[in-house]
Amino acid sequence: MSQSIISVENVTKSVISNDNQLSILKGISFNIMEGESIAIMGTSGAGKSTLMGLLAGLDQPTSGSITLLDSTISSMDDEQRAKIRSESIGFVFQNFLLIPSLTALQNVTLPMLLRGNEDQKNNELKAKALLEKVGLSGRETHLPTQLSGGEQQRVALARAFVTQPKILFADEPTGNLDQQTAQNIIELLFAMNTEQGTTLVLITHDAELAKRCQRTLIINDGQCQESV
Ligand SMILES: Nc1ncnc2c1ncn2[C@@H]1O[C@H](COP(=O)(O)OP(=O)(O)OP(=O)(O)O)[C@@H](O)[C@H]1O
Ligand SMILES: [Mg+2]
Repeated sequence: MSQSIISVENVTKSVISNDNQLSILKGISFNIMEGESIAIMGTSGAGKSTLMGLLAGLDQPTSGSITLLDSTISSMDDEQRAKIRSESIGFVFQNFLLIPSLTALQNVTLPMLLRGNEDQKNNELKAKALLEKVGLSGRETHLPTQLSGGEQQRVALARAFVTQPKILFADEPTGNLDQQTAQNIIELLFAMNTEQGTTLVLITHDAELAKRCQRTLIINDGQCQESV
C-alpha cells in the first residue's frame, strides 16, 4: 500500500500588494502518494510557483495545513523546515537560483556539504558524474554567469538530484531547453522516479511532460482540480 507523502488541506495564500489584498490560492486540497509523479499546470500567474513554495516549506500558507513526510510543515518554524528541506527535498526553481560566486561543480556539491557530507573528494565525484549526465562535462569550473540559461537550468537539476531526495519539486524543469535536451532531462527525472522511488512534483506548461506523469493537477482561479 502506498502512503500519502504530501497532504494539503484547505490551503490559502494571500499577499498584500499596493494596499490591496490579493488572494492567490483560495482553498486547495489534495494528496500525493509516495513514489507518484504529478504535473501541476495552469495559466501564467495562476499560482503554481506560489503553491510549490508552500509545499517545499519555503513560505507559509495564510491558512490551512500542509503535511510533508509526516511533518506538519505549515506549523513549523524556519529552522525546522530548513532541516526537512535539506534531508528530504530537491528543488529546481523557475529562475534556477544558483549561487553566483560558486562554480557549476561547487553549486552541485553544496547540498551534500549542507547535509554534513564532508568527504569532498567523494562529493566531487558524485557531482561530476551528475554534471556529465545532464550533458555538462567540461563546464565544471564555469561560474553561473559563464553558462547559458539552459546550462544553468541543468546545473540546478544536477544540484537537486545529487542528494537523491525523497521528493523532487521542479518548476518548469524543461522550460529553457531544446527538444532533445528536454527529452534527456525528462528521462533522467523519470529514471529517478522508477529506480529510486523519488516522488516527482513538476510544474509545467509542456503537455508532453504532463502526459508522462501519473496525474495532473490544474490550478485555476485559486482553486485546484484534477485533470481526467
Ligand atoms: N509576494 C507577492 N506579492 C504580490 N503578488 C504576488 C506575490 N507572489 C506572487 N504574486 C502574484 O501571484 C500570482 C501567482 O504567481 P505565481 O508566481 O505563483 O504564478 P505561476 O502560476 O507560477 O505563473 P508562471 O506560469 O508565469 O510561472 C501572480 O499574479 C503574481 O503576480
Ligand atoms: Mg511560476
